Amino acid sequence: MRELSPSARLRIEELSARYPHKRSALIPSLQIAQREAGYVSEEAMVEIARLMDLSPNEVREVVSFYSLLHQQPSGRYVIRVCTNISCQLCDAEGILHHLRCRLGIAPGETTPDMKYTLLEVECLGSCGTSPVMQINNDYHDNLTPEKIDHILDGLQ
Ligand code: FES
Repeated sequence: MRELSPSARLRIEELSARYPHKRSALIPSLQIAQREAGYVSEEAMVEIARLMDLSPNEVREVVSFYSLLHQQPSGRYVIRVCTNISCQLCDAEGILHHLRCRLGIAPGETTPDMKYTLLEVECLGSCGTSPVMQINNDYHDNLTPEKIDHILDGLQ
């Protein structure tokens, strides 16, 4: 159970007050909740819905739509692997397979030590440098299994 902290609640209220319609602050408010807990909990969604005069379902729909918002606790490193068409043509499946083997988890799962979460996502907007993955906010492109190993070895 992860409710919003009083300071997060205050920041969300301040943010909402900047807009003619409170709901305009929904995405940044969800980001505040996620930064605090590492994901957007059910309790946070309900509270944000109340603060923005929305239904909890309206907030859930937004959270489930964006792959950058997590509904479950996620690892310290969230790895998003694009398997859309350009990456698919450049062996994205092989890249994903390599990550599955190396991390021992399937897409949508987190390692038991909470270090890595692996996600399969739609186009990351870097089709010209396929295949592509994103680790937290950093892009890694023209991937090969060797390059992936080197990147992961460099993470603390
Ligand atoms: S298809 Fe993979 S980045 Fe666009």
